[in-house]
Amino acid sequence: MADRPDQRPPAGADLVPILFGHNAFQQLNAGCELGLFDLLAEQGPLAAAAVADALGLGRRAADILLLGTTALRLTLVEDGRYRNGPAVETAFADGTWPVLRDIVEFQARVSYAPAADYAESLRTGENVGIRRFPGDSRDLYSRLSNVPGLEELFYRCMNSWSRLSNPVLVEEVDYAKTGRVLDVGGGDAVNALALARAHPHLEITVLDRPGALEVARRNIDAAGLAGRVGTHAADIFDDDYPRGHDCVLFAHQLVIWSPEQNRRLLRKAHDAVEPGGRVLVFNAFCDDDGSGPLYAALDNVYFATLPFRDSTIYRWCEHEEWLRDAGFTDLHRITGAGWTPHGVIEGLRGAT
Ligand SMILES: C[S@@+](CC[C@H](N)C(=O)[O-])C[C@H]1O[C@@H](n2cnc3c(N)ncnc32)[C@H](O)[C@@H]1O
Repeated sequence: MADRPDQRPPAGADLVPILFGHNAFQQLNAGCELGLFDLLAEQGPLAAAAVADALGLGRRAADILLLGTTALRLTLVEDGRYRNGPAVETAFADGTWPVLRDIVEFQARVSYAPAADYAESLRTGENVGIRRFPGDSRDLYSRLSNVPGLEELFYRCMNSWSRLSNPVLVEEVDYAKTGRVLDVGGGDAVNALALARAHPHLEITVLDRPGALEVARRNIDAAGLAGRVGTHAADIFDDDYPRGHDCVLFAHQLVIWSPEQNRRLLRKAHDAVEPGGRVLVFNAFCDDDGSGPLYAALDNVYFATLPFRDSTIYRWCEHEEWLRDAGFTDLHRITGAGWTPHGVIEGLRGAT
C-alpha cells in the first residue's frame, strides 16, 4: 500500500544524516574512545547513571553520548537500560571488534581532517589533504615516516582493513594450481600471511618499500612463516619484479594510482609471469553503472584527498579493460560476501 502523503517524512529528512554526517562519525568515535561499547559488551544492559559512573563521565555527557549512539542504532535502549546495537554486537560476537576499532581510529586520525579538503582536491585535481602531514613528497605513503608513530598506526589500521575484507581473496580464489605468489605493494604482509596460513603449499614474496618491509618482517617472524613468506625491497614502478612466481597479486594497490599507472603495473605483472601464470586484483570496486555502492562513494573522499593525486575506487569494468590491454585473458570476477564492496578479478597470461 502506498504511503499517504501526510505520513511520509518531509523530503528534507534525507538531509539529516548527510548534514551531520561528521557528527555521526564522532558519536561512533567517542563511543569507542570512551569505552562505551566495551562496557556494554561486558556489563550491559545498563542504566544511563551506571554508564556515566563506569566511564567516569558526568551525567549530562553520558546522556548526550547515549542519545547519539542510540539514535544511530549503535546502542539500543529498553526500559531505560542500554545495550549495544546490532552492528556493534555482531562485531563483538564474531571477533571483529578489534578490527572495527582500528578502522574507526584510522578514520579519526588519518582520514577525518583531510576530508575537509575534498572540494579543494576535486577543484585542483590534487590530493590536497596531504598537506596535513609534514613532508614535500606527493604521496601519503612516503610522508608516513615523518610523523612519529604514524607509520605504525597506518600499517596497524591497513592490516585491519585487509583482515576485514580479505576473506574473498583468501577463501574464494582457487589456489590449487598456484605455487608462488608475488604480493606487489604487500605492505606489512597481512594478505601474504593470511594466504600462507590458509594454503600451506603457497610461497609468497612481499614486494614493498624498505620501511613497510621492516614491519612485514616482524610480522612474518612472529607468525613463524619465514620459511614460506619472503620480502623483496623494490619500487613497484621503477624496479624489475623478481622472477619465479606464477601469480602476481595487487592488493589494495590499483586504487592508489591513475589508469595509466595501473596499465603499467599490469604490464609489468604480465611480463613477470610465464604463460599460464595469473594476476589477482583485490580491492573495493564501484558498480559498472556508476551508481554506487555507498561504501565506495564515501570512501572515495579518502582516495581523493590523501593517498596520491589520482587515487580512486574504480569500476569493475575499468579494471577489466586494463587487464585485457595488458594481455590477460579469461577474466573472472569474484565478489565478497562481507559488508564492504571488496572483490577479486583474476586474469590469465595466455600461451603467447
Ligand atoms: C594501501 S597499502 C596496501 C598494503 C597491502 N597490500 C594491503 O592490502 O593491506 C599500499 C602499499 O603500497 C606500497 N607502495 C606504494 N607506493 C610504492 C612504490 N612506489 N613502491 C613500492 N611500494 C609502494 C605502500 O608502501 C603500501 O604498503
